[in-house]
Amino acid sequence: MKILVINGPNLNMLGIREPEIYGSVTLKNIEEELIEYSKKFSDIELEFFQSNSESEIVDKIQNSINNDIKGIIINPAAFTHTSIAILDAIKAVKIPCVEVHLSNINSREDFRKISYISSASIGTIAGFKQNGYKMALFGLINYLNE
Ligand code: DQA
Repeated sequence: MKILVINGPNLNMLGIREPEIYGSVTLKNIEEELIEYSKKFSDIELEFFQSNSESEIVDKIQNSINNDIKGIIINPAAFTHTSIAILDAIKAVKIPCVEVHLSNINSREDFRKISYISSASIGTIAGFKQNGYKMALFGLINYLNE
């Protein structure tokens, strides 16, 4: 079963970027940890994609249909709070999606409390730093196996 993990803008800067908020691990560390964690489940294939471009993320979501992707984990980063285009792409492909944030967006600035992505997600995990991706994978696999 193929699961696509999408990370949005500035998440390629993890490790350097505001470590007090996002932790000190890099995106590569997060991806390696998730691959290790996915081995607890049978038949899971992860594909990773990071982009700073909204249009590339929309294209990637659209192409999921042709690539036999069964579920999506997405940290849309700043696009969480602005992107109707990403919301519409998730709704268009109808692939179950879990939204992840490293930080607890609900305890930060008011503009981070609004997520355009939540309404198209089966669930949102926020505030558990890199472990949020593992929690998202656990939830998504259980959802898909129900
Ligand atoms: C983030 C939270 C967003 O508000 C922010 O713009 C990010 C990262 C998080 O993972 O906590 O880039 O999505």
